Amino acid sequence: MPRHLFVTTALPYANGNFHIGHIMEYIQADIWVRFQRMQGHAVDFVCADDTHGAPIMIAAEKAGKTPQQFVADIAAGRKPYLDGFHISFDNWHSTDAPENHALARQIYCDLRDIPESEGGSLIARKTIEQFFDPAKNMFLPDRFIKGECPKCHAKDQYGDNCEVCGAVYAPTDLIDPVSVLSGVRPELKSSEHFFFKLSDPRCVAFLQNWTQDGRLQPEVANKVKEWFSVRTNPDGSTSEGLGDWDISRDAPYFGIEIPDAPGKYFYVWLDAPIGYLASLKNLLDKRGQDYAAYMAQPDLEQYHFIGKDIVTFHTLFWPALLHFSGRKVPNKVFVHGFLTVNNGEKMSKSRGTGLDPLKYLSLGMNPEWLRYYLAAKLSARNEDIDFNADDFMARVNSDLIGKFVNIASRAAGFVQKHFNGQLSGAALWDSFKNTDGSESVQLPCMNNALMAADEIASCYDNREFSRGLRKVMELADGFNHYWDLNKPWELARGEDKEKLHVVCSVAIEGFRLLSLYLKPVLPKLAEQVEAFLNIPPMQWSDSRNRLGGHTIGTYAHLMQRVTPEQLDALFDPPAPIEIKLIPGGEAIAPTISIDDFVKIDLRIAKIVNCEAVEGSVKLLRLTLDVGEGRMRNVFSGIASMYKPEDLVGQLTVLVANLAPRKMKFGVSEGMVLAASHADEKAEPGIYILNPWPGAQPGMRIH
Ligand code: MSP
Ligand code: ZN
Repeated sequence: MPRHLFVTTALPYANGNFHIGHIMEYIQADIWVRFQRMQGHAVDFVCADDTHGAPIMIAAEKAGKTPQQFVADIAAGRKPYLDGFHISFDNWHSTDAPENHALARQIYCDLRDIPESEGGSLIARKTIEQFFDPAKNMFLPDRFIKGECPKCHAKDQYGDNCEVCGAVYAPTDLIDPVSVLSGVRPELKSSEHFFFKLSDPRCVAFLQNWTQDGRLQPEVANKVKEWFSVRTNPDGSTSEGLGDWDISRDAPYFGIEIPDAPGKYFYVWLDAPIGYLASLKNLLDKRGQDYAAYMAQPDLEQYHFIGKDIVTFHTLFWPALLHFSGRKVPNKVFVHGFLTVNNGEKMSKSRGTGLDPLKYLSLGMNPEWLRYYLAAKLSARNEDIDFNADDFMARVNSDLIGKFVNIASRAAGFVQKHFNGQLSGAALWDSFKNTDGSESVQLPCMNNALMAADEIASCYDNREFSRGLRKVMELADGFNHYWDLNKPWELARGEDKEKLHVVCSVAIEGFRLLSLYLKPVLPKLAEQVEAFLNIPPMQWSDSRNRLGGHTIGTYAHLMQRVTPEQLDALFDPPAPIEIKLIPGGEAIAPTISIDDFVKIDLRIAKIVNCEAVEGSVKLLRLTLDVGEGRMRNVFSGIASMYKPEDLVGQLTVLVANLAPRKMKFGVSEGMVLAASHADEKAEPGIYILNPWPGAQPGMRIH
C-alpha cells in the first residue's frame, strides 16, 4: 500500500550560507526520501529559512540592510548548494512568509482559547525582570550580555554560562555586566511575558507518553526522560519536572507579532517549527491542493530530521504545541550527530578543518562522492561522524569505483562487441557452471544479490545507511569474484561464446541490481545507468525483474576517481594574513575610494564561443553573453594557456564598460579579467577568472 509521508529537515538560520553540517543533514534526509519514493510512496519533502530572532535582526543592522532584505539575500544563495548536491526538496520557503505568520497566530490562539471544560488555557502571562540596553532601547538576549563570572571571576563571559569554569547562571549574576551591542551597562527592567504552560499536568502526561512510546531513538528517549525529573535553572539550582516556556519577546524584534498584544512578538523558536507547516502549505497552494484536507488524512505520516542540539525543541515544545492546538503530531523525529572535518579540533596538520560545500563543487568534485561517503558513515544512532580526507578517497576510489562502477566498464565492451548489445536469456544464467567447475546449480553472486533486496530496503528504511552500503559492496565483491573466476577475456578468445555471453550478461544484470540498490544515494549515476542499460527509471520493485534478452545501450564512462590534488585544493589552509610579495609580484597600487571602484562595471560573462585568431599566437577571440540580449566580441591574450574548446561554456569576468578598442583583427568590446605576474616573460602564466557555481551571465560584481 502506498503511504503518504510529510518529511522535513531542520530550518537553517538565515544568517549565513550552508556549511557542510547542513549539507550532511540534507543528504541523510534526501537518501531516505528517495528510498521511500522508490518504494512507490508519496513524499512531500520541504524546508525553509528560519528568519526571525534577535541575532538575525542585529546582523542585518550591521550589514546595513532591513531584516527582510538580509534574509532574502541569504535565501537567494541556497539553490546552488541544494541543486549541486542533488537534494530533492519539493519546496523551500521562509518563516517570515504570510503562511507562517497566519499559522503561528492561529496555533497560539488555539492554545490560548482552550475552553475550561478541556482544562483551560495553556498560555500564561508573567512579569519578569530582564536586562535592558538603554542606549539601544531594547531588552538583551543572554548571549548579548557579557561580564565577569560570579564563580571563577573570569572576565568577558556570556550571560548564560562561563566558558572557563562551566558555571551556569542568570545574566543578572554577572559582575560588571555590559551590553555587547553598545558597551553600556544594562539596566534591569520589568516586562510582561507570555508563557506556554509546559508544566501543566496535561502537557507533562502527554509528553511523558509521546516521548517514551518507542517513536524516538532509544538514546534520545533516555535523555529526554531526564528532563521530566530534574531541571537545571539558569541560576544553577534544580527543580523537578518541566518548566513553563517563555514564548514572547519585546519590540524591537524581527518576528511575528502576538495577536492582541502590540509590541510583543513570538520568540523565534515558537514560529520556527511552524515553518515546516507553512512551507508545506505553500507547496500545496502552488499545487492547488487543500491544506486542511491534506492534514486531515488519517494515514498521513510526519517525520523531522534534526541534529542533536535541537532535541528539546522538537521533542517537548513542538509536539505539545501541535497536540494541544488540536493538530497532528510528528510520527518520528530522527536525530543525527554532528559532522566534524579531519577530526575537528585535533585537526590534521597538513589539511585544515573547513570543508566549503561550494568550493567542493567548484573544484569539479562529484557531489555523489560526498553522498556516498556520508552514507557509508551514517547510522540510525545520534553519533558524531568525521569527514576524513584519506578515508574519503579510499572509500570512493576503491569501493564505489573499484568495486561497483568497474563491473559495468568491464562487461559492457564484450556485450557490445560480440553480441550487439543484447544480453543472453535469463534462464541460462543460473544453470551455467563456473569455468573451474564449482557451483554447479546456482550462481551465488546473483542469488545473493536478488535475495538482498529486502535486507537493503530495511537498512534504508531504518536509516542504517552504513550497513546497507556494506551489504551492497559485499554483493559487488561477489560479482567481481565471479568475473575473475570465469576470465571472460580468455573466453572472448576461445570457442565458447555462449559462456562468454552468460558471464557478461550476469555481470550487467548484477550491475543493474547494485545500481538500483544504490539509487537513493547516487541518483544521478542511476540515471546514467538507466540510459546505458536502456531501461525506465528504476523502482525498488524492479529488483524482482530480470534483464534477460534485453538490448542495452552504449556504455559511457560513469564516474571519475578522486585525486589527491583535489583534496589538497579543497582543504587548502587559509593563507596567513601577512603582506609578503610572491616572487615576481607587484606592489599594491595606491588606495582608491569606493567611488573610484564603482566606475568599473564588472559582469559575469558566459563564453558562448571561442576560437583561435589567424595571424596571432597570443590572442583568442571570445564571443561573450553578458545578459544584454546580444553577444560581445572580445580579444584576449590568453592563447598560450587555454585551448579554445576548453573555454566554451565557461563563465568568466568582463570589464563591461571599457571603451571599445579597434584592433588589427577587429573591435574588442571589453576586457576579460586574468591574473599574471608583473613580468610575464620571467614568470609565464596567465589565468582567467572563473566564478563559483550559481553566478549567472550579466550579474554585476560588487
Ligand atoms: N534554525 C534552527 C532550527 C530550527 S528547526 C525548526 C537551527 N538552525 S542551524 O542552522 O543552526 O542548524 C540547522 C541544522 O543543522 C540543525 O539540525 C543542526 O543540528 C544541523 N547542524 C549544524 N551543525 C552541524 C554539524 N556540524 N553536523 C551536522 N549537523 C549540523 O538550529
Ligand atoms: Zn567561571
